[in-house]
Amino acid sequence: MAARIVVTRRIPDPAIELLEGAGDVWVSPHDRPLSADELHSAVAGADAAVTLLHDRVDDAFLDAAGPALRIVANVAVGYDNVDVEACARRGVVVSNTPGVLTEATADIAFALILMSTRRLGEGERLIRARTPWSWSMFFMLGTGLQGKTLGIVGLGKIGQATARRARAFGMEIVYAGRRRAAEDVEAELSARFLPLDELLTTADVVTLHCPLSAETRHLIDATALARMQPSSHLVNTTRGPVVDEAALAEALRAGAIAGAGLDVFEREPEVHPDLLELENVVLIPHLGSATIETRTAMGVLAAENVVAVLGGSAPVTPVR
Ligand code: DGY
Repeated sequence: MAARIVVTRRIPDPAIELLEGAGDVWVSPHDRPLSADELHSAVAGADAAVTLLHDRVDDAFLDAAGPALRIVANVAVGYDNVDVEACARRGVVVSNTPGVLTEATADIAFALILMSTRRLGEGERLIRARTPWSWSMFFMLGTGLQGKTLGIVGLGKIGQATARRARAFGMEIVYAGRRRAAEDVEAELSARFLPLDELLTTADVVTLHCPLSAETRHLIDATALARMQPSSHLVNTTRGPVVDEAALAEALRAGAIAGAGLDVFEREPEVHPDLLELENVVLIPHLGSATIETRTAMGVLAAENVVAVLGGSAPVTPVR
């Protein structure tokens, strides 16, 4: 009997074509996240599930899927939506899509660094609001990056790619994380390892690239924000809950930090209402990997994982 492959939301055609070579493919007809009930009835009896970052893969999902399920292929590098232990207990492989979205996400991190430090969102809003303005020596001054220090929390692939961009802009790199990077990575980026507290007090711009886990939830809370300099900026392109959004809104309002750029939100797609009122924060709707090339590569990599596992081979990019 052909394998049943469930895709919880539309993914690029080349990925679907690959999956069709491995079984009967069902793709959700809704271009929205499925409710838990919809998700559970969709995956019933599936051999493989291709999930998106908004799908919760937990015991209830796995119970609904049943014993045929062999792989959950998450179309994202982050997999905080998947209970990996619960999958492992049932012998279900979990894969993600590392590597293929590194450059696109680093581009967005750097775009947010520039937008925040040069007040580009504010400038755009001013023009669209038809506010009168004229060039002056002191009009809408931002801060330059050259010679400044970028603090990277999590020097994985995306953190490193962001550091390369920062080096090209003349920035110094410091980083914090669970472990030190390899010597050649530190040497290439002239990156200095610091404890997080010290990074927060040192950096002119802090950019977050650590995965969301129990340890990193609200890593940037009121205490962490209080350590940052009043002239500093915070950028988040990883997962919203790494930052305490209410505390960030308060820090921005009070001038405890100068600005922030957010691609991800604590209760996505909701944004904390206080952030919406502030001029000194740039808000974009989770666009880190949003290029045609990257989304196609993510879909194809997820499909390759499904094809491999259903064909009896090892997954290409298992999560651990
Ligand atoms: C990921 O892959 O985890 C990204 O957040 C998707 O944009």
